[in-house]
Amino acid sequence: MSKGLEFSKKTKERLQAIVAKYPEKGAALLPTLWLAQREFSAITPEVEEYVAGLLGLSLVRVHEALSFYTMYTPQPLGKYHIQLCTNISCSLLGAEELLAYLKKRLNIEAGETTPDKKFTLSTVECLGYCGTAPVMRLNETFYENLTENGIDQILRKLP
Ligand code: FES
Repeated sequence: MSKGLEFSKKTKERLQAIVAKYPEKGAALLPTLWLAQREFSAITPEVEEYVAGLLGLSLVRVHEALSFYTMYTPQPLGKYHIQLCTNISCSLLGAEELLAYLKKRLNIEAGETTPDKKFTLSTVECLGYCGTAPVMRLNETFYENLTENGIDQILRKLP
């Protein structure tokens, strides 16, 4: 097990409750990774090792999951994580222009975090709202029919 890392008492209790729902510990991998990301801000190689140890899984099994699911991040994110969909429907309806707008407005490239750690900008594949494209996700909230004006309003309201 990885040295130095340990879930808080509260997170350990959450993990116990999650693991209890599954017939085997390893099946709780995805929610455990989610807890780990919240607790440690990112899924670093050390966190991967910690989670593998907690669930009795191989590192390869943990890494396989991480390489497939894009909601897990290897680096700490900003306070607000903007995920702009650039898949086909969103691209046809202006996602590339919105990406350029966000990059200019935040003064960062996709995949980067602002120096004040407030925003991380990512591009992602389909968010499942193709009928109301273009779409972005800001932390847990989805914004549809996005425009530059809409982005301004959304960002202006953030604390
Ligand atoms: S293509 Fe953007 S939400 Fe589906």
